[in-house]
Amino acid sequence: MRARAAQEVSPEMGRLGAADPSSGRGGDLQLRPVRPADRERIIEITKDVWEGRDYIPRVFDSWVADAGASFQAAEIEGVVVGVQRLRPYAPGLVWYEGLRVAAAQRRHGIGKAMLAASIGEAREQGFRQMRLATRDLPAVRLFESAGFGRMVEMKWWRGLRVEGGDPARIPDPAEAKKLWPGIASSAGFELYAGVCPDMNGARDLDADELERLARNGLVRLGPGGRAVALLREPWGQNIAVSLLAGRGGALRELLMALRFEADADGLNHVTINLPPGHPAEEDLKATGYDFADAEHSAYIYALTL
Ligand SMILES: CC(C)(COP(=O)(O)OP(=O)(O)OC[C@H]1O[C@@H](n2cnc3c(N)ncnc32)[C@H](O)[C@@H]1OP(=O)(O)O)[C@@H](O)C(=O)NCCC(=O)NCCS
Repeated sequence: MRARAAQEVSPEMGRLGAADPSSGRGGDLQLRPVRPADRERIIEITKDVWEGRDYIPRVFDSWVADAGASFQAAEIEGVVVGVQRLRPYAPGLVWYEGLRVAAAQRRHGIGKAMLAASIGEAREQGFRQMRLATRDLPAVRLFESAGFGRMVEMKWWRGLRVEGGDPARIPDPAEAKKLWPGIASSAGFELYAGVCPDMNGARDLDADELERLARNGLVRLGPGGRAVALLREPWGQNIAVSLLAGRGGALRELLMALRFEADADGLNHVTINLPPGHPAEEDLKATGYDFADAEHSAYIYALTL
Protein backbone atom coordinates (compact mmCIF):
# COMPACT_ATOMS: atom_id res chain seq x y z
CA MET A 1 0.00 0.00 0.00
CA ARG A 2 1.30 3.42 -0.77
CA ALA A 3 1.16 6.21 1.75
CA ARG A 4 -0.81 9.24 0.71
CA ALA A 5 1.06 12.47 1.25
CA ALA A 6 -0.65 15.43 2.82
CA GLN A 7 -0.58 17.43 -0.43
CA GLU A 8 -3.25 16.98 -3.04
CA VAL A 9 -2.64 17.66 -6.70
CA SER A 10 -5.34 19.80 -8.20
CA PRO A 11 -7.05 17.94 -11.02
CA GLU A 12 -7.88 21.14 -12.87
CA MET A 13 -4.89 22.66 -14.57
CA GLY A 14 -6.51 24.69 -17.29
CA ARG A 15 -5.06 26.11 -20.46
CA LEU A 16 -1.45 25.75 -21.44
CA GLY A 17 -1.38 27.85 -24.58
CA ALA A 18 -0.41 26.64 -28.02
CA ALA A 19 1.62 23.43 -27.98
CA ASP A 20 3.94 24.74 -30.63
CA PRO A 21 2.97 27.96 -32.34
CA SER A 22 5.70 27.46 -34.95
CA SER A 23 4.29 24.12 -36.07
CA GLY A 24 1.28 25.70 -37.69
CA ARG A 25 -0.90 22.96 -36.20
CA GLY A 26 -2.67 25.57 -34.13
CA GLY A 27 -5.10 24.93 -31.30
CA ASP A 28 -4.69 25.46 -27.60
CA LEU A 29 -3.53 22.58 -25.51
CA GLN A 30 -5.72 22.03 -22.49
CA LEU A 31 -5.32 19.70 -19.54
CA ARG A 32 -8.26 18.14 -17.79
CA PRO A 33 -8.82 15.03 -15.66
CA VAL A 34 -9.08 11.78 -17.60
CA ARG A 35 -12.64 10.44 -17.64
CA PRO A 36 -13.85 6.82 -18.01
CA ALA A 37 -15.17 7.75 -21.48
CA ASP A 38 -11.59 8.49 -22.63
CA ARG A 39 -10.69 4.82 -22.36
CA GLU A 40 -10.91 3.91 -26.03
CA ARG A 41 -8.96 6.95 -27.25
CA ILE A 42 -6.23 6.49 -24.67
CA ILE A 43 -5.87 2.81 -25.50
CA GLU A 44 -5.52 3.85 -29.14
CA ILE A 45 -2.74 6.29 -28.17
CA THR A 46 -0.84 3.53 -26.34
CA LYS A 47 -1.05 1.01 -29.20
CA ASP A 48 2.38 1.80 -30.66
CA VAL A 49 4.16 2.10 -27.32
CA TRP A 50 6.60 -0.72 -26.43
CA GLU A 51 5.41 -2.95 -29.28
CA GLY A 52 1.86 -2.85 -27.95
CA ARG A 53 2.88 -3.87 -24.42
CA ASP A 54 2.09 -0.58 -22.71
CA TYR A 55 0.77 -1.05 -19.18
CA ILE A 56 -1.67 1.88 -19.32
CA PRO A 57 -4.61 -0.16 -20.70
CA ARG A 58 -4.18 -2.47 -17.70
CA VAL A 59 -4.13 0.28 -15.07
CA PHE A 60 -6.56 2.67 -16.80
CA ASP A 61 -9.60 1.89 -14.63
CA SER A 62 -7.72 2.12 -11.33
CA TRP A 63 -5.97 5.34 -12.41
CA VAL A 64 -9.28 6.96 -13.38
CA ALA A 65 -10.78 5.93 -10.04
CA ASP A 66 -7.80 7.09 -7.93
CA ALA A 67 -8.60 10.47 -6.40
CA GLY A 68 -5.22 10.54 -4.64
CA ALA A 69 -3.37 11.22 -7.90
CA SER A 70 -3.88 13.47 -10.89
CA PHE A 71 -4.41 11.51 -14.15
CA GLN A 72 -4.67 14.11 -16.89
CA ALA A 73 -5.60 14.22 -20.53
CA ALA A 74 -4.19 16.87 -22.86
CA GLU A 75 -6.65 18.00 -25.52
CA ILE A 76 -6.40 20.04 -28.67
CA GLU A 77 -9.74 21.17 -30.04
CA GLY A 78 -11.59 18.52 -28.06
CA VAL A 79 -9.35 15.61 -29.15
CA VAL A 80 -7.19 13.86 -26.57
CA VAL A 81 -3.57 13.98 -27.75
CA GLY A 82 -1.74 12.94 -24.60
CA VAL A 83 -1.93 11.72 -21.02
CA GLN A 84 0.21 11.95 -17.89
CA ARG A 85 -0.10 11.25 -14.18
CA LEU A 86 1.26 12.93 -11.09
CA ARG A 87 1.02 10.90 -7.89
CA PRO A 88 2.03 11.87 -4.34
CA TYR A 89 3.67 8.75 -2.90
CA ALA A 90 5.80 9.71 0.09
CA PRO A 91 6.13 12.85 2.21
CA GLY A 92 7.40 15.63 -0.05
CA LEU A 93 7.71 13.34 -3.08
CA VAL A 94 5.57 13.17 -6.18
CA TRP A 95 5.91 10.48 -8.87
CA TYR A 96 5.49 11.34 -12.54
CA GLU A 97 4.33 8.54 -14.84
CA GLY A 98 2.27 7.56 -17.85
CA LEU A 99 3.36 10.37 -20.17
CA ARG A 100 2.15 9.50 -23.67
CA VAL A 101 1.66 11.68 -26.72
CA ALA A 102 -0.29 10.36 -29.73
CA ALA A 103 2.15 9.26 -32.44
CA ALA A 104 0.76 11.69 -35.02
CA GLN A 105 1.27 14.63 -32.65
CA ARG A 106 4.82 13.99 -31.47
CA ARG A 107 7.71 16.45 -31.83
CA HIS A 108 5.41 19.46 -31.62
CA GLY A 109 6.21 20.38 -28.05
CA ILE A 110 3.16 18.70 -26.49
CA GLY A 111 5.12 16.41 -24.16
CA LYS A 112 7.29 19.30 -23.10
CA ALA A 113 4.28 21.53 -22.37
CA MET A 114 2.53 18.76 -20.42
CA LEU A 115 5.61 18.06 -18.33
CA ALA A 116 6.14 21.76 -17.65
CA ALA A 117 2.55 22.04 -16.41
CA SER A 118 3.08 19.09 -14.08
CA ILE A 119 6.29 20.56 -12.72
CA GLY A 120 4.49 23.86 -12.10
CA GLU A 121 1.66 22.06 -10.33
CA ALA A 122 4.05 20.01 -8.18
CA ARG A 123 5.89 23.21 -7.19
CA GLU A 124 2.67 24.97 -6.33
CA GLN A 125 1.64 22.05 -4.16
CA GLY A 126 4.89 22.31 -2.19
CA PHE A 127 6.48 18.99 -3.06
CA ARG A 128 10.21 18.70 -2.42
CA GLN A 129 11.09 16.53 -5.38
CA MET A 130 9.49 15.02 -8.47
CA ARG A 131 10.81 11.59 -9.48
CA LEU A 132 10.17 9.17 -12.32
CA ALA A 133 11.45 6.01 -13.97
CA THR A 134 12.10 5.70 -17.68
CA ARG A 135 14.12 3.77 -20.22
CA ASP A 136 13.31 5.45 -23.51
CA LEU A 137 15.67 7.80 -25.29
CA PRO A 138 13.09 10.42 -26.35
CA ALA A 139 11.83 10.56 -22.79
CA VAL A 140 15.36 10.71 -21.37
CA ARG A 141 16.09 13.73 -23.61
CA LEU A 142 12.82 15.37 -22.65
CA PHE A 143 13.37 14.93 -18.90
CA GLU A 144 17.01 15.99 -19.01
CA SER A 145 16.14 19.11 -20.97
CA ALA A 146 13.56 19.93 -18.29
CA GLY A 147 16.31 19.78 -15.64
CA PHE A 148 15.83 16.26 -14.24
CA GLY A 149 19.01 14.62 -12.98
CA ARG A 150 19.79 10.92 -13.26
CA MET A 151 19.84 9.22 -9.84
CA VAL A 152 20.18 5.51 -10.60
CA GLU A 153 20.90 3.45 -13.69
CA MET A 154 19.64 -0.12 -13.73
CA LYS A 155 20.10 -3.18 -15.91
CA TRP A 156 17.54 -5.97 -15.87
CA TRP A 157 18.47 -9.53 -14.90
CA ARG A 158 16.22 -12.58 -15.00
CA GLY A 159 16.39 -15.94 -13.25
CA LEU A 160 13.85 -18.62 -14.07
CA ARG A 161 11.89 -20.46 -11.41
CA VAL A 162 13.62 -23.55 -10.11
CA GLU A 163 12.37 -26.44 -8.02
CA GLY A 164 13.82 -28.06 -4.98
CA GLY A 165 14.86 -25.54 -2.36
CA ASP A 166 13.55 -23.31 0.37
CA PRO A 167 12.35 -19.76 -0.21
CA ALA A 168 14.24 -16.96 1.53
CA ARG A 169 13.44 -15.84 5.04
CA ILE A 170 11.05 -12.89 5.44
CA PRO A 171 12.00 -10.69 8.42
CA ASP A 172 9.48 -8.93 10.62
CA PRO A 173 9.49 -5.10 10.56
CA ALA A 174 11.59 -4.70 13.74
CA GLU A 175 14.28 -7.05 12.43
CA ALA A 176 14.25 -5.37 9.01
CA LYS A 177 14.85 -1.96 10.60
CA LYS A 178 18.05 -3.25 12.18
CA LEU A 179 19.42 -4.29 8.78
CA TRP A 180 19.98 -0.66 7.81
CA PRO A 181 23.64 -0.21 8.92
CA GLY A 182 24.65 -3.42 7.10
CA ILE A 183 22.86 -2.35 3.91
CA ALA A 184 24.18 1.21 4.03
CA SER A 185 27.77 -0.01 4.30
CA SER A 186 27.48 -2.81 1.71
CA ALA A 187 29.71 -2.77 -1.38
CA GLY A 188 28.05 -1.00 -4.29
CA PHE A 189 25.40 0.70 -2.16
CA GLU A 190 26.52 4.15 -3.36
CA LEU A 191 25.24 3.24 -6.85
CA TYR A 192 21.68 3.51 -5.49
CA ALA A 193 22.10 7.22 -4.62
CA GLY A 194 20.19 6.81 -1.36
CA VAL A 195 16.97 5.56 -2.93
CA CYS A 196 15.28 2.23 -3.38
CA PRO A 197 14.85 2.23 -7.18
CA ASP A 198 11.30 0.90 -7.23
CA MET A 199 9.93 1.58 -10.74
CA ASN A 200 6.54 2.27 -9.12
CA GLY A 201 7.89 5.04 -6.90
CA ALA A 202 11.50 5.44 -5.73
CA ARG A 203 11.57 6.34 -2.05
CA ASP A 204 14.48 7.44 0.09
CA LEU A 205 16.04 4.41 1.71
CA ASP A 206 16.61 4.38 5.48
CA ALA A 207 15.77 2.23 8.50
CA ASP A 208 12.13 3.39 8.50
CA GLU A 209 11.74 2.52 4.84
CA LEU A 210 13.08 -0.98 5.53
CA GLU A 211 10.52 -1.33 8.28
CA ARG A 212 7.75 -0.20 5.91
CA LEU A 213 8.85 -2.63 3.19
CA ALA A 214 8.91 -5.48 5.71
CA ARG A 215 5.39 -4.57 6.85
CA ASN A 216 4.36 -5.08 3.22
CA GLY A 217 6.22 -8.41 3.01
CA LEU A 218 8.81 -7.04 0.59
CA VAL A 219 12.12 -7.90 2.33
CA ARG A 220 14.03 -11.18 1.85
CA LEU A 221 17.13 -12.28 3.75
CA GLY A 222 20.10 -14.49 3.00
CA PRO A 223 21.80 -16.54 5.75
CA GLY A 224 22.48 -14.56 8.92
CA GLY A 225 21.00 -11.43 7.32
CA ARG A 226 24.28 -10.97 5.41
CA ALA A 227 22.44 -10.47 2.12
CA VAL A 228 19.19 -8.60 1.56
CA ALA A 229 16.76 -8.23 -1.35
CA LEU A 230 14.12 -5.50 -1.40
CA LEU A 231 11.14 -6.40 -3.56
CA ARG A 232 8.55 -4.27 -5.33
CA GLU A 233 5.07 -5.01 -6.60
CA PRO A 234 5.68 -6.92 -9.85
CA TRP A 235 4.04 -6.02 -13.17
CA GLY A 236 3.66 -9.64 -14.24
CA GLN A 237 3.93 -13.26 -13.11
CA ASN A 238 7.24 -12.82 -11.36
CA ILE A 239 9.09 -11.72 -8.26
CA ALA A 240 10.59 -8.25 -8.84
CA VAL A 241 13.65 -7.06 -6.90
CA SER A 242 14.53 -3.36 -6.65
CA LEU A 243 17.69 -3.55 -4.58
CA LEU A 244 20.33 -6.07 -3.55
CA ALA A 245 22.82 -5.74 -0.71
CA GLY A 246 25.60 -8.17 0.18
CA ARG A 247 27.83 -10.35 -1.94
CA GLY A 248 29.43 -13.76 -2.17
CA GLY A 249 28.04 -16.92 -0.55
CA ALA A 250 25.23 -15.29 1.42
CA LEU A 251 23.97 -13.38 -1.60
CA ARG A 252 24.20 -16.46 -3.82
CA GLU A 253 22.04 -18.42 -1.39
CA LEU A 254 19.52 -15.59 -1.37
CA LEU A 255 19.45 -15.38 -5.18
CA MET A 256 18.76 -19.11 -5.42
CA ALA A 257 16.12 -18.86 -2.69
CA LEU A 258 14.29 -16.23 -4.75
CA ARG A 259 14.18 -18.63 -7.70
CA PHE A 260 12.81 -21.34 -5.36
CA GLU A 261 10.22 -18.87 -4.07
CA ALA A 262 9.09 -18.11 -7.64
CA ASP A 263 8.58 -21.83 -8.16
CA ALA A 264 6.76 -22.31 -4.86
CA ASP A 265 4.43 -19.42 -5.72
CA GLY A 266 3.74 -20.66 -9.25
CA LEU A 267 5.53 -17.65 -10.76
CA ASN A 268 7.60 -17.81 -13.90
CA HIS A 269 10.78 -15.99 -12.93
CA VAL A 270 12.60 -13.44 -10.79
CA THR A 271 13.61 -10.08 -12.25
CA ILE A 272 16.26 -8.00 -10.59
CA ASN A 273 17.30 -4.49 -11.50
CA LEU A 274 20.87 -3.73 -10.61
CA PRO A 275 23.13 -0.75 -11.28
CA PRO A 276 25.85 -1.71 -13.79
CA GLY A 277 29.18 -2.31 -12.04
CA HIS A 278 27.53 -3.47 -8.80
CA PRO A 279 29.53 -6.33 -7.21
CA ALA A 280 26.40 -8.53 -7.13
CA GLU A 281 26.73 -8.96 -10.91
CA GLU A 282 29.17 -11.83 -10.36
CA ASP A 283 26.79 -13.53 -7.94
CA LEU A 284 23.87 -13.16 -10.37
CA LYS A 285 25.90 -14.85 -13.11
CA ALA A 286 26.95 -17.64 -10.72
CA THR A 287 23.34 -18.39 -9.76
CA GLY A 288 21.87 -18.66 -13.24
CA TYR A 289 20.60 -15.14 -13.83
CA ASP A 290 20.96 -13.56 -17.28
CA PHE A 291 20.47 -10.10 -18.65
CA ALA A 292 16.82 -9.68 -19.55
CA ASP A 293 17.84 -6.83 -21.85
CA ALA A 294 21.56 -6.23 -22.17
CA GLU A 295 21.12 -3.31 -24.57
CA HIS A 296 18.97 -1.05 -22.48
CA SER A 297 19.12 0.52 -19.08
CA ALA A 298 16.26 1.95 -17.05
CA TYR A 299 16.78 5.07 -14.96
CA ILE A 300 15.39 6.87 -11.97
CA TYR A 301 15.36 10.63 -12.51
CA ALA A 302 14.64 13.40 -10.02
CA LEU A 303 13.94 17.11 -10.17
CA THR A 304 14.30 19.19 -7.03
CA LEU A 305 11.37 21.59 -7.00
C1 LIG B 1 8.30 10.81 -25.03
C2 LIG B 1 7.11 11.55 -25.63
C3 LIG B 1 6.04 11.70 -24.56
C4 LIG B 1 7.57 12.92 -26.11
O1 LIG B 1 6.43 13.66 -26.49
P1 LIG B 1 6.52 14.81 -27.63
O2 LIG B 1 5.29 15.62 -27.57
O3 LIG B 1 6.88 14.20 -28.91
O4 LIG B 1 7.77 15.63 -27.07
P2 LIG B 1 8.15 17.13 -27.46
O5 LIG B 1 7.79 17.41 -28.87
O6 LIG B 1 7.59 18.03 -26.44
O7 LIG B 1 9.73 17.06 -27.33
C5 LIG B 1 10.41 17.62 -26.24
C6 LIG B 1 11.85 17.14 -26.25
O8 LIG B 1 11.90 15.73 -26.02
C7 LIG B 1 12.97 15.16 -26.78
N1 LIG B 1 12.43 14.23 -27.77
C8 LIG B 1 11.13 14.00 -28.05
N2 LIG B 1 11.01 13.03 -28.98
C9 LIG B 1 12.26 12.64 -29.29
C10 LIG B 1 12.79 11.67 -30.19
N3 LIG B 1 12.00 10.90 -30.95
N4 LIG B 1 14.14 11.51 -30.22
C11 LIG B 1 14.95 12.27 -29.46
N5 LIG B 1 14.49 13.23 -28.60
C12 LIG B 1 13.18 13.40 -28.52
C13 LIG B 1 13.68 16.31 -27.45
O9 LIG B 1 14.66 16.77 -26.56
C14 LIG B 1 12.56 17.31 -27.57
O10 LIG B 1 12.98 18.62 -27.67
P3 LIG B 1 13.27 19.21 -29.16
O11 LIG B 1 12.06 18.87 -29.99
O12 LIG B 1 13.42 20.66 -28.87
O13 LIG B 1 14.50 18.51 -29.63
C15 LIG B 1 6.53 10.78 -26.86
O14 LIG B 1 7.58 10.50 -27.75
C16 LIG B 1 5.83 9.49 -26.50
O15 LIG B 1 4.65 9.47 -26.15
N6 LIG B 1 6.56 8.36 -26.62
C17 LIG B 1 6.04 7.05 -26.33
C18 LIG B 1 5.82 6.83 -24.85
C19 LIG B 1 7.00 7.14 -23.97
O16 LIG B 1 8.12 6.78 -24.24
N7 LIG B 1 6.70 7.83 -22.87
C20 LIG B 1 7.65 8.18 -21.86
C21 LIG B 1 7.71 7.10 -20.85
S1 LIG B 1 8.49 7.65 -19.38
